Amino acid sequence: MFKKASASSGYRDPEVLVGLDLGTSKVTVVVAEREGPSGEAQIIGMGQAPSTGIRKGLIVHLDNAVRSVRQAVSDAENMVGLELSDATVSFSGGDIHSIRSKGMISLGRSPRTVMQLDVGRVIEAAQADVAVPPNQMILHTIPVEYSLDGNTGIDDPLGMTGMRLDIDLESVIVPISTVQNVYNCVDRAGLNVTGFVIKPLASALGMITPEEAIAGVIAVDIGGGTSSIAVFADGRPKHLAVLSVGGDHITNDVASVLKIPIGKAEEIKKEVDLFSDFSDYQEDRLEFDHNGRNYSYSLSDLTDIVQARVDELFLSLVKGEVANSGAPMLSGGLVLTGGFARSTGIDLYLSRLMDMPVRVAFPVDSNRMPPGRNGPEYACASGIIRYALEQERDPFRYIEQPLDQLLKLPIKRSQDIGQHSDAEQETKGPSIIESIKSVLKELF
Ligand SMILES: Nc1ncnc2c1ncn2[C@@H]1O[C@H](COP(=O)(O)OP(=O)(O)OP(=O)(O)O)[C@@H](O)[C@H]1O
Ligand SMILES: [Mg+2]
Repeated sequence: MFKKASASSGYRDPEVLVGLDLGTSKVTVVVAEREGPSGEAQIIGMGQAPSTGIRKGLIVHLDNAVRSVRQAVSDAENMVGLELSDATVSFSGGDIHSIRSKGMISLGRSPRTVMQLDVGRVIEAAQADVAVPPNQMILHTIPVEYSLDGNTGIDDPLGMTGMRLDIDLESVIVPISTVQNVYNCVDRAGLNVTGFVIKPLASALGMITPEEAIAGVIAVDIGGGTSSIAVFADGRPKHLAVLSVGGDHITNDVASVLKIPIGKAEEIKKEVDLFSDFSDYQEDRLEFDHNGRNYSYSLSDLTDIVQARVDELFLSLVKGEVANSGAPMLSGGLVLTGGFARSTGIDLYLSRLMDMPVRVAFPVDSNRMPPGRNGPEYACASGIIRYALEQERDPFRYIEQPLDQLLKLPIKRSQDIGQHSDAEQETKGPSIIESIKSVLKELF
């Protein structure tokens, strides 16, 4: 018998946190239970379903995606014996980027204590010049660094004294239609969306240690259809990006170059040591029968295909995003998750390629996750719970537009779709000023 914690009953179990990772290969639901007043939570179960209707992180067939979410939710419900009602949702897709801006406010002619309203004002000042195209919106507002009277590197200026407050701010911009489709999908699957978190942030929080975040680190999640990149330094995200390249592109490369079906290419990709150097062993061959035909390829040719794609991904795309982060020292190196991080030898290969330490990470909470669902491809799920907890602890760390404000955007609940309303004409969301004010209101 399920313990009732459902939306239909109007009751939301405050002890339970639920995360939903909308992946290209799989949809994952993670359920955590709070651990008393410690502010921590323990993962108590995970559900999963093969992902249909999602390509390169983007919903391309709503009904199929809804079905996958329902299946994953029901799998999780069976595991934990609870009926789930709400979820913080992690998603990605194309055209997601983050923009850095600076803001400054004066605190007066003589030094005084920084208050929460001042923090709100300086964030507002930094975001005033961020140009958001009409079809996009700011999903996350992330303070990267504060300075007080020219002293840089201040983590939290609240309660400190000064005359001038400066901020470096990161704004994560996403297409409105992407958020709308994710919202519709989850809503139709029967869950209330309690918040959104962009995949690079969730994955990073699910894979890096606090020490790495402070030392400076590149967190890369190579999934099926996307690669998520987060650069952290001084404990804060400096840059977040989603690339529409993932493990499935490598499968496609293998299939098209070797002229074999996708299914067979996927099998080979997982079996062969993709990062070994076979160049001195041209006689080493991959031989198999498929549909009555005998295939024989040089292993060196196969690994060349894969390594060329990985070289392009890291040397051009990942390095480009790291340069955009402006982070000077990343002594924590590169941390890798996602299904493709399971490839044997990828850490050593990338360590040579990028000339830095590389670690393949299991989720930070892997010892609390069910066996078989605690590998590198579940870091994002684990990170959603971390994000939800951090949001509660410090609402100024990752400022998200409150959902009631998000819903005033062109986003409509699924039951409204098909009905014309004045709201449909509305194209502009609430300003960040209003969002910050509502965060402040919640605090007072
Ligand atoms: N042992 C392995 N070796 C190489 N690749 C693997 C291995 N296991 C899984 N993969 C690849 O990992 C990818 C799936 O990874 P993951 O489960 O992290 O994706 P996802 O989270 O659903 O997708 P995304 O985050 O891109 O939306 C697939 O391309 C799959 O082929
Ligand atoms: Mg993923």
